[in-house]
Amino acid sequence: MRTDTGEIIHLEDYRPTDFVLERVDLTFELDPRQTKVEARLIFHRREGVGLDMPLVLDGDELKMTGLLLDQEEIAPANYDAADRTLTIRHLPASAPFEITVVTEIDPQANTKLMGLYRTSDVYCTQCEAEGFRRITYFPDRPDVLAPYTVNIIADKEAAPLLLSNGNYLGGANMGDGRHFAAWFDPHPKPSYLFALVAGDLGVVEDSFTTLSGREVALKIYVEHGKEPYATYAMDALKRSMKWDEEAFGREYDLDIFMIVAVSDFNMGAMENKGLNVFNDKYVLADPNTATDADYANIEAIIAHEYFHNWTGNRITCRDWFQLCLKEGLTVYRDHEFSADQRSRAVKRIAEVRHLKAEQFPEDAGPLAHPVRPVKYREINNFYTTTVYEKGSEVTRMIATLLGADLFKKGMDLYFDRHDGQAVTIEDFLACFAEVSKRDLSQFSLWYHQAGTPLVTVSTSYDAGRQTFTLSLEQMVPPTPGQTAKEPMHIPLRIGLLLEDGTEMSLPSPAGAEMTGDVLHLTERKQTVTFEGIPSRPILSLNRGFSAPINLHFEQAPADRAHIARHESDLFARWQALNDLALPNLVAAAASARSGVPARCDAALVDALLTAARDDRLEPAFRAQALALPSESDIAREIGSNNNPDAIHAGRQQIMTAVAVAGREFFAELFDKMAATGPFSPDAASAGRRALRNTALSYLVYAENDPARAAAAFHSADNMTDLSQALTILAHRFPDAPETLQALSAFKARFAENALVIDKWFTIQATIPGAETLGRVRTLMADPLFAGSNPNRVRALIGTFAFSNPTGFNRADGDGYRFLAHQILDIDPRNPQLAARILTSMRSWRSLEEIRAEHARNALREIAAGATLSPDVGDIVERMLVG
Ligand code: TRP
Ligand code: ZN
Repeated sequence: MRTDTGEIIHLEDYRPTDFVLERVDLTFELDPRQTKVEARLIFHRREGVGLDMPLVLDGDELKMTGLLLDQEEIAPANYDAADRTLTIRHLPASAPFEITVVTEIDPQANTKLMGLYRTSDVYCTQCEAEGFRRITYFPDRPDVLAPYTVNIIADKEAAPLLLSNGNYLGGANMGDGRHFAAWFDPHPKPSYLFALVAGDLGVVEDSFTTLSGREVALKIYVEHGKEPYATYAMDALKRSMKWDEEAFGREYDLDIFMIVAVSDFNMGAMENKGLNVFNDKYVLADPNTATDADYANIEAIIAHEYFHNWTGNRITCRDWFQLCLKEGLTVYRDHEFSADQRSRAVKRIAEVRHLKAEQFPEDAGPLAHPVRPVKYREINNFYTTTVYEKGSEVTRMIATLLGADLFKKGMDLYFDRHDGQAVTIEDFLACFAEVSKRDLSQFSLWYHQAGTPLVTVSTSYDAGRQTFTLSLEQMVPPTPGQTAKEPMHIPLRIGLLLEDGTEMSLPSPAGAEMTGDVLHLTERKQTVTFEGIPSRPILSLNRGFSAPINLHFEQAPADRAHIARHESDLFARWQALNDLALPNLVAAAASARSGVPARCDAALVDALLTAARDDRLEPAFRAQALALPSESDIAREIGSNNNPDAIHAGRQQIMTAVAVAGREFFAELFDKMAATGPFSPDAASAGRRALRNTALSYLVYAENDPARAAAAFHSADNMTDLSQALTILAHRFPDAPETLQALSAFKARFAENALVIDKWFTIQATIPGAETLGRVRTLMADPLFAGSNPNRVRALIGTFAFSNPTGFNRADGDGYRFLAHQILDIDPRNPQLAARILTSMRSWRSLEEIRAEHARNALREIAAGATLSPDVGDIVERMLVG
């Protein structure tokens, strides 16, 4: 295996730059193939830095056509332009000096989508993490902050719109068919927040007045004709701006806030100062084309990027090891926003489902790493669910430990103290330690130790003494590079329920600190005793998923059913239903493996239907209650030697058992949850649709006939219902004439809408079973498939690998070999995309022997690739070694 950089970066090697950057002045002369960039950079030598120290700038695939010091050409003897660095010697001792770098770049040829590139004839940049160095030589690291002036020159017809960060200074025609615009961003920022967009786009405009009376112009730029699709995003933006003022006291700080939607983008969106760039998937929506999940994602991501203005931009990261400082915190903020805008309990359930489906496997496999890593080879590979979602959970635990008031005080101190700085996790934690006077050093292990802690619990009730005792034990599993772990500070929210459905107020126990309903587990083993308990209580543990842990607690099914029925915390009710279902599903998988029929506990069916029937509960919750743990949840519970076919077959049998038992009820529910008025994307209406579609899915299991789903497909008047019906048809009756007809009707109707066609690919890529690989191959040859578009590649190849356990993990290993070839094909064009899709194999070691052997061989085939990117090289190496 060969990669172009094998170098490992260590946190302990951090030191500030030798030169301080004071100002940046950029001029772009845009051309699709030959864009000229002139960067004028004012530096001074940092105090105490020796005269012999050269200035070293970062670069990546650059062609330099000029280099000047204070407007004089620098003699070749005084600099070295290497592949990845530019070194300039003999610079002034202390006075500021100006370096001018002129580069020529080819945006059209930039398929990596990092730096300046083209997407549908629009010029667009993506600089996080290290894309700016693909534009010019620069100290491309987050602790180098400066104000930027940006001049953009372009053909007026091709690019009537010229945008960059900050405030618009002015512009004019140049007389030669070109025009220019100048922008100034007064807020010092790191290069990763730089952005430029130029092209011909439509706009949706609005405005927002901040708490202190600043009038902010809001603009969302989209392809011409797509303007009506941006109104929901605009609404979400205004709600985000208001919420950040109310919940965190944070106001916006420029006169304009812009969002640009583009169709070629490596991730979800990017928080560039004043000029967010979005994957259009997270901007465009209307009832005919977007599902309820799409609406919820748009709301969350608009909020996320907006919230970065304070958590990320005003206060940024000292180095990329601190990525969770902005990402974990900002995810926490967007979670809280969505919880306030929608149903808190339902949002929490969705978060935990996502965390368990994505982050827990990462933490349990070869790619496990701490929330705050100490080394990396390719930073792109650390935009992970551990940094984002576990990082958010760690922030949530700080709020749980401190309580709402102290958490707010700590955040305020953080904003006050570090505004305008590039800081570390230690700086962040110090604010909370200070306001709470708590020692957070043990808690900080959540940032440093990888792996999901396992907490084992048993309880006993002594009727004579009236005591209730919990024996707790924690273990953090070994992860790559970390074999021995220290015990963590784990905040467990608990409740003691009584047989009559009420809840005890908690006496303070012996053996553990308790604050409110939070029990602090801090030792490896801890025995906690509550006194004065008159009857045997039922323990509800880890309410609200207060800690991101695995729990081993052999609780009687009757107690779980009791929690599912009576807990005041709805999340805990959902958790209890899951805990009831999982043993059934695991047993069913074992039965399927040995070829005997599975059986389903009547108590499970009863608990599920009881929750689903309860009209006092919101429909969205009832839909979640009915959704059994997924195939990957079951695989995780089994842990090793997994056979995805058996898991699938077992789960189908349990689904069928529930469906048959509840058949009449599901039919009633399906009718009852029908829409009563015109479509609205609000959470309550979405909840009704979710419950109705869940009922439909069970009904189809009970009836084993495509008729009902086909009817639902033909009568659907919104994309949620339409795509759900199509999914049921395709997944359960892939070859039925009803399905083939629906698939082609869907394709014909939406052929012009790329985002909807992505769904058409995804639905087919996730059809269970070994046959689907053939389908995926056929679909790749469809004229609508575009290998250069990341959304399309993710929709077909990504979802096949990530979300089709039986198809991808075919026993003959063809799924893995297919993926290996795709990775080797994508990597030279777009390494970030290739590396991300490759992480779909992160749990390969937990597969049964024959599949694991096939998977290992496929990984080796990738590793043997002639020239791997650092991105793919890093992932494949860790997956084979770890
Ligand atoms: N900072 C962005 C966010 O989470 C994500 C991001 C990081 C990104 N690197 C990127 C987006 C590269 C696109 C391309 O909000
Ligand atoms: Zn982010």
